[in-house]
Amino acid sequence: MPEPAEVQRGLQDVVALESRICFIDGRQGRLIYQGYDIRDLAAHSTFEEVAYLLWYGRLPTRSQLAELRTRMGALRTLPEPLVRQIDQMPAECHPMDILRTAVSALALFEPDETKPGASSIGGAQRLTAVFPSILAQFHRRRTGMPPLGARPELSQAAYLIYALLDRDPTDLEARAVDEALILHADHELNASTFAARVTASTLSDLYSSVTSAVGALKGPLHGGAAERVMELLDEIGSVARTEEVVREKLVRHERIMGFGHRVYKVEDPRATILREWSRKLGEAKGDTHYYELLRALETVVHREKGLYPNVDLYSGSIYSLLGIPHDLFTPIFASSRVAGWTAHVLEEYQDLRLIRPMAKYIGAVDLPYIAIDERT
Ligand code: CMC
Repeated sequence: MPEPAEVQRGLQDVVALESRICFIDGRQGRLIYQGYDIRDLAAHSTFEEVAYLLWYGRLPTRSQLAELRTRMGALRTLPEPLVRQIDQMPAECHPMDILRTAVSALALFEPDETKPGASSIGGAQRLTAVFPSILAQFHRRRTGMPPLGARPELSQAAYLIYALLDRDPTDLEARAVDEALILHADHELNASTFAARVTASTLSDLYSSVTSAVGALKGPLHGGAAERVMELLDEIGSVARTEEVVREKLVRHERIMGFGHRVYKVEDPRATILREWSRKLGEAKGDTHYYELLRALETVVHREKGLYPNVDLYSGSIYSLLGIPHDLFTPIFASSRVAGWTAHVLEEYQDLRLIRPMAKYIGAVDLPYIAIDERT
């Protein structure tokens, strides 16, 4: 049998396609969206500007941005049958499972938007606008909050806070979440974006592609890490115990969540910005407990394993300071990354080639067939 080329486990270092959307310089610790450095975008733009940038390849003018905000505000409302379905989902389910199921179900009520092709830009905006509403519909019911209002005047960041906490954010809180959303919006061919592009490459529709992506993001090696970081902090409890807990985990060959990255060989630039937000928000709220634990954790993990923090290390501490429950961290990540997923799916449709790698077969061949009654 012909041998396929050498196996690249986890497709590490494999360049699978060309893209204009996102560039990661893993050695310099730089992240670029459509030509713009993430540090400039975090400092000066909003999530909606970044979503526009990812979808259209250029920053919006003031009127284009206002138009997008109006459109996305109007797209927040869920179809009534979907509201009823979400209300019947078990309250003890993880919100990522609700999100995955609801995104898939949403397509049933929006058949025109599910077709691949140019019109999918409307679907991209619809999906991005609707993610917080799906989460809130579930979360508000399980916690007994009053029904969700559309609040079209709110930005995605402010709407998320209102929808999940039933209160308007302070300016500082809204800005913290807005920057977190900007930083999570895209990251080249990460596992969930790749999953979305693989699905799109079969000429499947946008909603199916995004459903694939939500499933991939859920895993603890990807977007699920932020929730695990907070579990770790609760286990550590105090700065004095950090070293002992980390060492025990490393002896057992457990991974320390929020550290390490396939592409970055230095600190993830998103972690640098989120660390500062964790400190700033902690000081503003008079609670720097998580920030101090995270700093101690960074020191120990770097000394013991030489690993740097990634985007998931500090994000959970920011959301926790706002009062957001841990199991909503990954869905909030998804409420931002959906802009990137949809941009990548649209790009895939523009330059479509079925994504279909090969496996190196290491099983048997030419086994003689055994009749069913002769098997042991
Ligand atoms: N804790 C302990 N050891 C680690 C960690 C970690 N966080 N990350 C990597 N290593 C070790 C790993 O055990 C292996 O050691 P050895 O060679 O002795 O077996 C070595 O480093 C290489 O690991 P790898 O899994 O081959 O490297 P990778 O490039 O596939 O890993 C990663 C990338 C993100 C899966 C990994 O660093 C990890 O599991 N991190 C913890 C989970 C996490 O924080 N995920 C969020 C990633 S960034 C945001 C996102 O995608 O959502």
